[in-house]
Amino acid sequence: MRRKLAAGNWKMNGLAAAMTQAAAIAAHDANGVDVLICPPTTLLTQMANLPMSVGGQDCHANTSGAHTGDISADQLADTGATYTLTGHSERRTDHAETDTMINAKTTAAYAANLSAVVCIGETLSERETNKTLTVIDNQLAYSVPDTATAANTVIAYEPVWAIGTGKVPTNDQIAQVHAHIRARLTKRFTDGTDFRILYGGSVKASNATEIFAIPDVDGALVGGASLNAANFIPIITALAAS
Ligand code: PGA
Repeated sequence: MRRKLAAGNWKMNGLAAAMTQAAAIAAHDANGVDVLICPPTTLLTQMANLPMSVGGQDCHANTSGAHTGDISADQLADTGATYTLTGHSERRTDHAETDTMINAKTTAAYAANLSAVVCIGETLSERETNKTLTVIDNQLAYSVPDTATAANTVIAYEPVWAIGTGKVPTNDQIAQVHAHIRARLTKRFTDGTDFRILYGGSVKASNATEIFAIPDVDGALVGGASLNAANFIPIITALAAS
C-alpha cells in the first residue's frame, strides 16, 4: 500500500509571518495522509518543529565547499528536513539544470538520508508535438538514480504548462502519463509498484477530488494553493477521502 502524500512547494514565498499558515496546516488531522511542506530555506528550521514533514526545494550535489548561495543536502537534513525536491521545472529553466545534474543532486539527497521528490514534465510545445512520453522517459532515465527506491524517492509529474497557469491536463492525459511512469518504474526497479507518483500543476480544492480519483495518482505537489491553510487543508482532506 502506497501512503498518500500531499506536498506543498512554497517556492520563493513566505516570511516569518507565514509560520501561522504552516502551523495551521500541521495542526490539521490529515487522516493518514503524509503532509510535506517545502518552504524557503529561511523557514525550514522553525517549520521542522511542527508535526509534519518539511523539505528543501533543491540541494547542491556536493556536501560542502565553495558554492556561494547554494545549500547542501546535509545542511537541509541538519534543519530537520527529511525531503528535498529535485529537478523542479523552475530549477531546470532558471538555473539550466540538466538531468545529469539532477541525478547528482538526488544522489546527494540520498547520502544525507533525505527522500527526493524528483520532478519531471513536458513543456507545452513538447506536448503539442507528441513528445510527452519521450520527454518523460528521458527525464526518468537520466534524472532518477539507479539507487532510487520507493523509500527514498517520490516522482512528481508536473507538466510545465500547467504550473501556475490554472490549466490542468485532462484526466485521460494525467492517467496516461502516470500509467506510463508506473510501467517504467516497475520495469526498472524491483519495488517499482511501491513508488509514489504525485501530480502537480494548478491543483486546487476545486479539482483535487477529480485528480485523486485517477489511477496511480498517489497525491499532489501543490504550489500556489499550498501557501495558506484555507486552500491547502481541503486538498489534504480530498486526498484522505480518495
Ligand atoms: P502550482 O505549482 O500548484 O502553483 O501550479 C506547482 C509546482 O510548481 O509544484
